[in-house]
Amino acid sequence: MAGRLHAFGVKSALLRSGGPFERIHRGASRRVVRELDLSGIGAGLDPAQRRAAREVWEARMRDERRAVMAMSQLVADLSRAGAPLDVVGAGAALVHDEARHVEICAAVAEALDPSTPVYARLPLLPPHGTTDLRRRVVLSVVSLLCVGETLSAALLAEAREACTDPVIDAVLTELLRDESIHARFGWWWLDTPQGELSPEEASAIEPMLARLFRDLERTFLDDVEEGATPPGAVPADARSEVLYRVVTETIVPRLERHGVRARGAWENRRIAA
Ligand SMILES: [Fe+2]
Ligand SMILES: [Fe+2]
Repeated sequence: MAGRLHAFGVKSALLRSGGPFERIHRGASRRVVRELDLSGIGAGLDPAQRRAAREVWEARMRDERRAVMAMSQLVADLSRAGAPLDVVGAGAALVHDEARHVEICAAVAEALDPSTPVYARLPLLPPHGTTDLRRRVVLSVVSLLCVGETLSAALLAEAREACTDPVIDAVLTELLRDESIHARFGWWWLDTPQGELSPEEASAIEPMLARLFRDLERTFLDDVEEGATPPGAVPADARSEVLYRVVTETIVPRLERHGVRARGAWENRRIAA
């Protein structure tokens, strides 16, 4: 049940069950937010700039909620597929990280502009179209972790580079530390005997990858606003540069080493079906 709850002294209306679950989940989040001390956030910003910055952090919070959903499904699939205990345990820690990120981003958004509570609905995740369990795990690890988290870490690093607000800098550092580990989780898994890709699996990844690259490029080119970069955002002119650099210098070569013709997927992204 969604209710109006107090998070870190501000009013957030995140979807929660309440009771002991909330205490366990929020214990770690509350400690991190307390340590970050958001009281001096956005010093020097006028009300309009604060609203713009809040929008950036609300959007980031929604991304983090989607990450909670997608990672939970991946960990469940890894478990069903017989992944070793350490993989399932580390995967569950990733889900916990993402849930904590939702709380941190909501707290930052509200600290920047406390005029109204931050609302978040649990997004509806459409069923994965792939019914074969092993194939679904492979596609999810590559799309969510190897591509998604690798890009996410690079974007956070870029946002931190551009950030002049010391409080938001500390928040970005906190998120970046986790997202870098999440990206490595995917690459580590591909290096395990269980994660090793068969030639058929590598081929099955390629059309998915071309579509993913196409969609990422469209999103990165579309999301360009005018004006100053709000604190915590990636500068508009840096977004596509990060995408091209990280895909061509990191993601493509690493996937090629696992037998995926990722360079072809990147080159064919604009004609991907
Ligand atoms: Fe996250
Ligand atoms: Fe993540």
